[in-house]
Amino acid sequence: MGVSKVDSMISQMTLEEKVGLVVGVGLPGFFGNPHSQVPGAAGETRRILRLGIPAAVLADGPAGLRINPKREGDEKTYHATAFPIETMLASTWNREVLEEVGKAVGEEVREYGVDILLAPAMNIHRNSLCGRNFEYYSEDPLLTGEMAASFVKGVQSQGVGACLKHFAANNQETNRMIIDTVVSERALREIYLKGFEIAVKKAKPWAVMSAYNKLNGRYCSQNKWLLTKVLREDWGFEGFVMTDWYAGDNPVEQMEAGNDLIMPGKVNQINPKRKDEVEEILNAVKDGRLSENILDRNVRNILKVLVNSPAFKGYKYTDKPDLEGHAKIAYKAGVEGAVLLKNDGVLPIKEDARIALFGVGQIETVKGGTGSGDTHPKYVISILEGLREKHLKVDEELAKTYGDYVSTMRSRDEYKIRRMFFGIPIAPKLPEDFLTEEKLEEATEKNDIGIVVISRISGEGYDRKPEKGDYYLSDDERRLIEKVSQVFRSRGKKVVALLNIGGPIEVASWRDLVDGILLIWQAGQETGRIVADLLIGKVNPSGKLPTTFPKDYSDIPSWNFPGEPKNNPQKVVYDEGIYVGYRYYDTFNVKPAYEFGFGLSYTTFEYGGLKILKTENSIKVSFTITNTGRFPGKEVAQIYIRAPKGAVDKPFHELKGFHKTKLLNPGESETVEVEIDLRDISSFNCGLWILEKGEYEVRVGASSRDIRLTGTFTIDEEKKYNP
Ligand code: BGC
Repeated sequence: MGVSKVDSMISQMTLEEKVGLVVGVGLPGFFGNPHSQVPGAAGETRRILRLGIPAAVLADGPAGLRINPKREGDEKTYHATAFPIETMLASTWNREVLEEVGKAVGEEVREYGVDILLAPAMNIHRNSLCGRNFEYYSEDPLLTGEMAASFVKGVQSQGVGACLKHFAANNQETNRMIIDTVVSERALREIYLKGFEIAVKKAKPWAVMSAYNKLNGRYCSQNKWLLTKVLREDWGFEGFVMTDWYAGDNPVEQMEAGNDLIMPGKVNQINPKRKDEVEEILNAVKDGRLSENILDRNVRNILKVLVNSPAFKGYKYTDKPDLEGHAKIAYKAGVEGAVLLKNDGVLPIKEDARIALFGVGQIETVKGGTGSGDTHPKYVISILEGLREKHLKVDEELAKTYGDYVSTMRSRDEYKIRRMFFGIPIAPKLPEDFLTEEKLEEATEKNDIGIVVISRISGEGYDRKPEKGDYYLSDDERRLIEKVSQVFRSRGKKVVALLNIGGPIEVASWRDLVDGILLIWQAGQETGRIVADLLIGKVNPSGKLPTTFPKDYSDIPSWNFPGEPKNNPQKVVYDEGIYVGYRYYDTFNVKPAYEFGFGLSYTTFEYGGLKILKTENSIKVSFTITNTGRFPGKEVAQIYIRAPKGAVDKPFHELKGFHKTKLLNPGESETVEVEIDLRDISSFNCGLWILEKGEYEVRVGASSRDIRLTGTFTIDEEKKYNP
């Protein structure tokens, strides 16, 4: 259906119908609203039966489709696959994997009758404690943008839409609906907007969700500069923009700014002081405060997209997506996204090694975060179940002790799992240090290795804390690790820590107590299977960190997170500018515990043969990677560029390209070729992208601090590019 058809539809619409189309129908299933036609979906657009315009269904989210698994009076189930969290997907650094995950999610979206997926989420990890970092990819905009673009391509190849969110600079949960993010245009363009720019240009997403926060004094959903100048004029975005749920405070300003759709609609149901959006927009058009042309433009933006949706096409969905096939994709993404942080000759373990498994997380394995990024899969394979399923020799007596402990404790009032608003589970952490000395001794005697699971959960609506039990180990977790370390090592046996977490925790003060650390993130429904295969080396870890693990929370440059005043932040000033993540640590020589891009393997790789070819508008970098060890494995090669000192201050170096190799057998090589646009290595200054002249260094490495090859190229003449 072409644009003229859309225009003809618009010409037949009454003013009321047009206004109805730019405001959602209300939060389905809450405040007396009926459920969505797909129960559990986050929202719906209004249908106009008279003109054959159906309702489009919108549902979360980043780790898989979030809909209700059960429906009233219905025997069938509607489970969706729980994929690894986005941060883990980014740890794969594998565009094909992201596209495959996108395809799988897209198929579930389509076959469950949803039209637009509210993902990917792509805010930058400005501070390790943002409660939703698990839903975001990385501290780096290139990695974020590339991962998002591949995911969107995958989703949209299934005939449904993806929605980039939260646009933009939504980097904390504290007071997220009112906080004013104050940030320079340079930091916006280079860091906080860049990922969105890449995804918009490369993948043409159907939709973008404007963020809750204010950006330099104006709500993102009411920010014309952001939604019209940057998104449409500078980048050429052709889809439609929707608000985040109940965002902003002025529907007329939202319309004018270029926020086409207000979601979920009916804000007055949660805030009686606020006016009904439909009424407000209608009155504004009637009394001349809002031009009908603007309304028409927004309706057109929405319809142009929706005419391609399954709803519009009358697609007959099956409610039977290929969950079995998708479980395999979730597994594949998980094994590629785990990051081996430390390995002093302990991993992989032998398949018949006797394992003493410690930590409540072996049973209560955390599959992902809470809130709209949650999922409702058919099952979650816990770490213990995964090891058992693969017939690893788990100490069953110890496992039973843990099982009994967890069920006894959870039956006590203080540790009962409670449900907050919208059914979000709150599970108070169980003390980890409960095993008697005898039990520990016995476990050490009987087993070859000790594995300690450390778990964390975070979610939408609250930020993590720089405290024990969250960013730091709790005292009981530390005691558990100390004791296990002491008893196992005193018998010449080794200890491994498994980090089942959604974002960085402090590791520097205790990592010497263990011989290996495997970061398994929150790997979705297949977690246990993923862990088992990595431990025994059936798969070689090939993930690399998409976000720095700082030595200590006090090292993080966003010192004022989550804003001022401390007790009730209204404003957060991004004083650190572009110095986010490794851009800060590497420029100011602050050594992290594990740097951006870091990740070990069971094999080793050698880099060689760097060639740099400069063309008119790009540089072509090529080099060879050889597997020099004994295991087949994949390597993530990273290309950083160090710009010359010029008029604008520059970070020490910045990621400008990357490549994940195929599975290389011992002795096998792959030649890597990466082309980098010159525009993409310029800096934003006074309204333009500027490529300063001088000598640039190309730094090819296995991480941001493990540079293996360097070379240079020269820019003779300064170049300028429009934003
Ligand atoms: C979240 C969005 C989500 C929406 C609908 C909001 O609270 O910020 O990410 O898509 O709810 O569930």
